[in-house]
Amino acid sequence: MMAQQGPARADLVLKGGKVVSDRTIREADVAIANGLIVAVGTPESMPAAVGTLDVSGKHILPGAIDAHVHFRTPGYSYKEDWESGTAAAAMGGVTTVFEMPNTHPPTATAEALRQKLELASPAYVDYGLYGLLAEDNLEHIEDLITGGVAAFKCFMGNTFGNLPSPSTGAMLEGFELIAPHGLRISLHAETASIMARRQKRLEAAGRCDPLAHLASRPAIVAVEAVSRAAILAEWTGARIHVLHISSADELRVLREAKARGVDITGETCPHYLLFDEQAYRDLGSLIRVNPPVREKFHQIGLWQGLKDGTIDMIATDHAPHSTEEKIVENIWKADCGFVGVETQMMLMLSQVALGRLSLCDYVRLSATAPARAFGLYPSKGIIEVGADADIAVVDLDRPFEIREADLHSKGRVTPFEGMTGRGTPVHTLVRGRFVMRDRELVREAKGHGMSVRRIQRMPRPQPANLAQTMKHIVSV
Ligand code: DOR
Ligand code: ZN
Repeated sequence: MMAQQGPARADLVLKGGKVVSDRTIREADVAIANGLIVAVGTPESMPAAVGTLDVSGKHILPGAIDAHVHFRTPGYSYKEDWESGTAAAAMGGVTTVFEMPNTHPPTATAEALRQKLELASPAYVDYGLYGLLAEDNLEHIEDLITGGVAAFKCFMGNTFGNLPSPSTGAMLEGFELIAPHGLRISLHAETASIMARRQKRLEAAGRCDPLAHLASRPAIVAVEAVSRAAILAEWTGARIHVLHISSADELRVLREAKARGVDITGETCPHYLLFDEQAYRDLGSLIRVNPPVREKFHQIGLWQGLKDGTIDMIATDHAPHSTEEKIVENIWKADCGFVGVETQMMLMLSQVALGRLSLCDYVRLSATAPARAFGLYPSKGIIEVGADADIAVVDLDRPFEIREADLHSKGRVTPFEGMTGRGTPVHTLVRGRFVMRDRELVREAKGHGMSVRRIQRMPRPQPANLAQTMKHIVSV
């Protein structure tokens, strides 16, 4: 191969911004070529570029990696599909999503995975697909891995889609099968039998008010499930991830498991950080989500867990439903969950503006930690030479108001309606390509997103001055 002659040429240089990592904020320009970051530094150190963009006054963050979204297709495309869901992600500064398997059919076989990979082709942003770990699909686990799942999901408690929760025996065998491959197993950690009995008793007593949902799922539901999963992970060496941590009580289990050397990570979501019990009175059935939003002392504990590192990351559990499915009289009839992928960054940046979180902590929680946990680091989750140019340019001063009508999802109803704050993503780039620019979706970028298991980083000829720290990494 011929060595490239003359000065290197970048496709784009972002000029005059502040580059944020999980540890530092520094003034630096960022050069992008072939979808990768090829230089970070002073203006003089930048290569010549085809295009430049002045981002002075703005911050350059690694795009958020949302490890928990439901894009509903196949099966429930009227709630969301890959085009609408990833458009919402792009608008929210999210450059990679991990999509859940509770579609219809569920992503439980290699055939279902192939189908979903095809349906995902209009994606604006990169994605990992979860494979299902269930009672009756253990014989499909190896094929799902070969077929390209990025991680597994196990529903220990039932939720939307009503996938039956596997027995502890099936979970153990699933963990044994997956552990040698190193893929992480994410857990909907709520114990089905506790919830089913409580709900039955509440219904028998005539309860169908919003707070009955919380009463049917006390924190022990989650504590028992997290504890059991941690023991199975310790026994098998499987890597696990606790989805949507909703209670302060789960944190002790997480801390103790981490201290014992279990490879366990955990996430919480904006709704657990920003709402408490009062939301049932204010919002009624709209706030119904699994696990439930809880009492104030849990919320306080979760903020503490974010700061001390017990909780590794923020995800959204983006779970679109129609307004008619959410706003109902009888709480047991309300679909659980709501959209979140488009609003997470704004909501959390507004908390940064209020001083509840540092900007570096936000980058750690939204990008660097999920990249590490799901095997994407350092290709993703960091603004550094050799990484994918997955970038959210944010304006920390720009005010926002969340309005359903502005969202890009299909099922848009959100408990965050009308919330205001400061801190807005203004441009989103995925592997160097704008998918959102000046707060507008770049429609031509539809289909640019790729499965993170398919992005092969082939060695490319690189001018010596750009190549020092270039890494060629196959994701996951
Ligand atoms: O509230 C929820 N909704 N929790 C989940 O775990 C699933 C989600 C959904 O798919 O609607
Ligand atoms: Zn979920």
